[in-house]
Amino acid sequence: MAEKSNLLITPYGGELINLVVDGDAREELIKKAGTFPTVRLTPRQMHDLELLAVGGFSPLDRFMGQDDYQSVLDNMTLADGTVWPIPVTLTIDKEDLPDQADWVTLRDVHNQIIAVMRLEEIFRFNWKDEAQKVYGTTDLKHPIVSEMAGWGDLCLSGELKVVNLPAYDDFVELRLTPAETRAKLEEMGNANVVAFQTRNPMHRVHEELTKRASKQIGGSLLIHPVVGMTKPGDVDHYTRVRIYKALVDNYYDNDTLLSLLPLAMRMGGPREAVWHAIIRRNYGANHFIVGRDHAGPGNDSEGKPFYGPYDAQELLKSVEKQVGVKMVPFELVVYLPDEDRYELASEVPEGTKVAQISGTQVRDDYLAKGIALPEWFTRKESAQILLDSYPPRHK
Ligand code: ADX
Repeated sequence: MAEKSNLLITPYGGELINLVVDGDAREELIKKAGTFPTVRLTPRQMHDLELLAVGGFSPLDRFMGQDDYQSVLDNMTLADGTVWPIPVTLTIDKEDLPDQADWVTLRDVHNQIIAVMRLEEIFRFNWKDEAQKVYGTTDLKHPIVSEMAGWGDLCLSGELKVVNLPAYDDFVELRLTPAETRAKLEEMGNANVVAFQTRNPMHRVHEELTKRASKQIGGSLLIHPVVGMTKPGDVDHYTRVRIYKALVDNYYDNDTLLSLLPLAMRMGGPREAVWHAIIRRNYGANHFIVGRDHAGPGNDSEGKPFYGPYDAQELLKSVEKQVGVKMVPFELVVYLPDEDRYELASEVPEGTKVAQISGTQVRDDYLAKGIALPEWFTRKESAQILLDSYPPRHK
């Protein structure tokens, strides 16, 4: 039986933060911004700012101040007790700190004015502390940890007013804000919505998970791939979005919505899964798929996985009520060649032949050599799009 739960009722009434200023106020602010000292945002900080601005990170309305930051590290909550697993900070080198400013202007790498920020707090950033407490390691093999080591010494925080959201010219019609996504989901008319996170091309196994999940909840499916930053070496998002579009057009029904999420992932496994669920709640989902090794960063410098394959499920399960999103968990799903279907590994009798192709094999044995992935593994449309995007580079 599908469980009924209200689409838009979340622990804080479904309210979305909106930091975007428009009209005359925006013109005024842009003028003032020209007189404030500059803080330049990295691409990662731009993605974080975008999600703060449009409410993807609600109830967070700023780069974290010290109380929230410390509480996220120590308790996985904001200072007021709201579950929040991942730090969202504006870190800088101390040489880049403007002197004596009440307000600063946040600009992108091209010097475009993005936002103004009231400089309310400046506090020390200790990457090792964050790495250990949030990601459980200081091993530089972890992609976010190696990056964090170069993030500088200070965190800045304060009220934000955003005058220019990042401009995109690719797949604009699929880049829906939380409010737009909620409106579309509401139009679809189902009380339940299950969201699916991915940073990879969707293969048959992902299709299996999403179709099983939407059937299980008896509602809509939000395919919500990350197009901000993912794991270094992943398939680029242009290729992935072409695949998502082809799949949604050919293999999904009308209860499916494809929308792109400009998130900068941390590859933080369990804590990241909780974050993903909170973000998808803000976009209007009340269920969230977590499979095997969700947002996994791979292996550490001793060759062991940083997180257990089901740690993410365990952590999200423990806070799903506070978060307001019910997890739809999946164990490992595998292909059964003799029966031409996918099944949960736990349901497969011992001795049955199973098949899988790992992410590394996809990259090294197929994409790098210009070999088409087999049809049991990925739809023919996806295989062709991958071949077109990844001709063998050595030829
Ligand atoms: S992730 O970094 O976004 O988690 P990926 O795009 O590969 O990576 O996975 C998307 C979702 O599908 C995650 O919830 C992941 O756990 C799940 N998943 C991927 N492959 C499998 C599989 N073979 N069995 C079960 N779950 C899987």
